[in-house]
Formats: sequence, C-alpha cells, structure tokens
Amino acid sequence: MMNAQEKKLYIKTWGCQMNVYDSNRMADVLAPLGYKPVEAPEDADMVILNTCHIREKATDKVFSELGRLRKHQEDKKAKGGKMLMAVAGCVAQAEGDFIMERAPYVDMVFGPQTYHELPQMVMKATGQRVVNTEMPTEAKFDQLPEENKNQGVTAFLAIQEGCDKFCTYCVVPYTRGAEFSRNYEGIRDEAKKLIEAGAREITLLGQNVNGWHGKDLKGRTIGLGDLIAGLADDVDGLERIRYTTSHPNDMKQDLIDAHKDIPKLMPFLHLPVQAGSNKILKAMNRSHTVESYVDIVNEVKKARPDIAMSSDFIVGFPGETEEDFEETLKVVKEVTYAFAYSFIFSQRPGTPAANMGMQIHKAVKSERIQRLQALLNEQQLDFNKAQIGKTMPVLFDRKGSKNGQLHGRTPYNQAIHAEGNERLRGQVVELEVTEARANSLEGKVAII
Ligand code: SAH
Ligand code: SF4
Ligand code: F3S
Repeated sequence: MMNAQEKKLYIKTWGCQMNVYDSNRMADVLAPLGYKPVEAPEDADMVILNTCHIREKATDKVFSELGRLRKHQEDKKAKGGKMLMAVAGCVAQAEGDFIMERAPYVDMVFGPQTYHELPQMVMKATGQRVVNTEMPTEAKFDQLPEENKNQGVTAFLAIQEGCDKFCTYCVVPYTRGAEFSRNYEGIRDEAKKLIEAGAREITLLGQNVNGWHGKDLKGRTIGLGDLIAGLADDVDGLERIRYTTSHPNDMKQDLIDAHKDIPKLMPFLHLPVQAGSNKILKAMNRSHTVESYVDIVNEVKKARPDIAMSSDFIVGFPGETEEDFEETLKVVKEVTYAFAYSFIFSQRPGTPAANMGMQIHKAVKSERIQRLQALLNEQQLDFNKAQIGKTMPVLFDRKGSKNGQLHGRTPYNQAIHAEGNERLRGQVVELEVTEARANSLEGKVAII
C-alpha cells in the first residue's frame, strides 16, 4: 500500500537495453523524493517517457503517446492534482527544443547524460518548465545512487556509454555522446549489489561495450576481457556473464581469450556486421571489411568452438545494388547465425546517410528484408533444432506462462521452458532439450 507521502511514478521505455537500465536508474534516483514505480499512467504524479531515436517515426510515437497521456494529466488536474510530464532518452536529446515547443504541457525534457540531476530538475519543475540536454564530461554513473531496484535473476549493468564510431546511418554518437568507460571498482561494486539482490547472470552493457577500457586494481590498463576475468573472480555468486553490443574492430585478443578461458562467460556473441558488401560497409563508415569481420568470427570460433553468433543487419542502404545485397546473404551463409536483428535502412535526420544520393525504393527494401529474414529465421530454427537431445545448463530466471512451468536461458541465450519447482528459480539446472521451435525450446530436468 502507498502511504500519503508516496508519489506514483510511471516510466514507459522504448529502445535498447541501455534504456531499460536507465529507466531503472531513474526510478532509483527518484526514490528518495518519495516516487514509487507503478504499472499504469492513470493518476501518476510523474510520467517519464524514455525514448529511442534509432529508426523511423520515433518522434511521432512520442507525440502520440504524449497526446494520450495529456488526458490523464487533465483528469488529474481536474481533481486538484498535478502530473509532471517528462521526456527522456535519445529523442529528448535530439529533439528537445522541438518537443518543448510543440507540447506545452510537457514539464521536462532531458537527455541520457543528465539522469543524476533528476531530483533537482523535479524540484525546479514543480515551479517552471525544464530543458536539460547538456552532455557533461563527468560521469553520471559516479553521481547516481546505489542500485536499489531488484532486477531479478538476470540483470543489466552499464559499463560503457556513447560511441565515437560515427557510422553514417546512426544517431547514437549524437544522442549518447562520446565513448566513456566506467572504472573497474564502480562496476565490481554494482555487480556485487546486483548479486545481493538476487541476480545470477549479469549482462554488461554499452553502445560499444568491447571498447571498454580501464585500470585494474594494480593500475594496469585493461580491456573488456580482463574486466570479465576480474568480475568472474571478484564477485561471489555471479554465475553467468554476457555483454552487448560489440563493434568488430574492438574485438581484442583479451576478449577472444576470455571466451576460451572463462567458463562463466557465456558462449554467445552479438557482433553486428550490418552488410556483406565492402562498398556498402565503406559508405556506412563501418571501418571493417567483410573479410576482417569473418576473420574475427573465425578467431572467436577457434577460441570457443560452440559459440552462438548473432548480428544486426541493415538492408537498403543508399546505393545498395542487388549484387551488394546478395553479398549480405553470402556472409550470413558463411557465418551462420543463431539469432539476428535485421532492419530496413531509415533516414535519420542529421546523419550523413540521410542525404546520400541513390536512396533505395521502399518496395525494393521490403523485398530484400523479407529474403534476408527468411534466411535468418531458417538458420535460427536450425540452430534451435540442433540442440534437441543435448543436455545443457539452464538458468531458470522466472515463471513460465503455464502452471508449474519455469522459463530459463540456455548458454546460447535461447529461451527454454520446462516443468520445474518454483524453488529452482535462480538456479542453474541441467536440462535435456526435448523440442525446438523458432523462438524457444522445451526441456526436461535431467539432474536436480
Ligand atoms: N552499437 C549499438 C548499436 C545501436 S543501434 C548498440 O549498442 O546496440 C542497433 C542497430 O540498429 C544497429 O546495429 C543497426 O543495425 C540498426 N540501425 C542503426 N541506425 C539505423 C538506421 N538509420 N536505419 C536502420 N537501422 C539502423
Ligand atoms: Fe551506431 Fe555505429 Fe556507434 Fe553502433 S558503432 S552505435 S551502429 S555509430
Ligand atoms: Fe535507441 Fe538511444 Fe538505444 S537511439 S537504441 S535508445 S542508444
């Protein structure tokens, strides 16, 4: 039950895992002011839309959501209350002034680098409207309070933020700013907190997570592989480690070695290639070639032969010919993916690719994405089916949809359901895989 001082906080989140993490941290930072997260916007004292700017119609979606929320805001006002309305995240960063202009009922607009200043902003906003799209160089992480929202058995931990790569299609370098790495101690301490709160698996997050670098406890410069090794040793109770998202050029030897040497590091690698044609990769400013990408994948496969590969793809980049697109299909066939995201190229305002000549017709883009997705879906199903009959350690993270059933993840990040006692939640259990579908597996407990 809520007491009189408690205020209701409704946060709606779009976009990547970093945004999910940030929403949790915003709830943490507002807790001392009496705000408690709620599941529905009606009657909330504060609403935060944590937005994503990565593809089409991002801003439109925010405005239509704001339109709906405005009615709740008016209802609340009619009852003599106040609903603070805030827009955060990457649309706020990119379109802050426009939002303030077009939606006068929005009280606050603030970008991803300012969340530690939220309490001051909220106090100010009770009097006036606030825009904060600064990108302070000091780490917001150091100023955020300790984690207190229980994320459950699997948790996210942001270790790096921002991107210096400037792929020509992408808004992230503009919305998240320059690459920044948190220090080792801060990461280790947050990992310990997450474990105390019940986490068994931690996914290390960053827009360019494998660009992470820092110093170990002895002052030596280290990369992500050494960071993972350090966490595996220093954080008791941490059973599984994952990381996302990586850039091929930052796939350094220490990280490849970590896949060989650290059993807690799961055999799954999300390594976006985007396209299979060197001409397109160059126009994208990806700074890797298809050959250098395949070489890296082969190195990783050598280190961890059972590694499951995952990627992002963009089809219909300006200038992409049928031959270029077929090279994308070729790299998919060469690498073989257990999982992938694929997107139609979207012209993002302010990015170089938005104004390139030779934009591809919509009908061509949708025909290509269908062909690509058919191939990727086939590979995903094949990968899932290949697990039938195998026994593997599964981390049960939550209840399944059916009674008496649990949901878990295989080492390869596949969702798996099995009959199991509630007490197995939070445990790693050996399961035999009995059935496979496109998006999930079924299994039975092999040994308890
Ligand atoms: N390195 C980042 C990538 C963020 S964007 C991370 O941490 O996840 C996620 C994916 O969106 C990219 O890999 C790319 O495939 C896709 N994407 C980015 N900009 C795009 C655009 N303008 N059109 C279509 N897809 C895009
Ligand atoms: Fe965007 Fe490229 Fe940076 Fe990924 S590496 S966030 S796609 S600019
Ligand atoms: Fe979207 Fe920003 Fe993440 S644009 S994908 S929320 S970094």
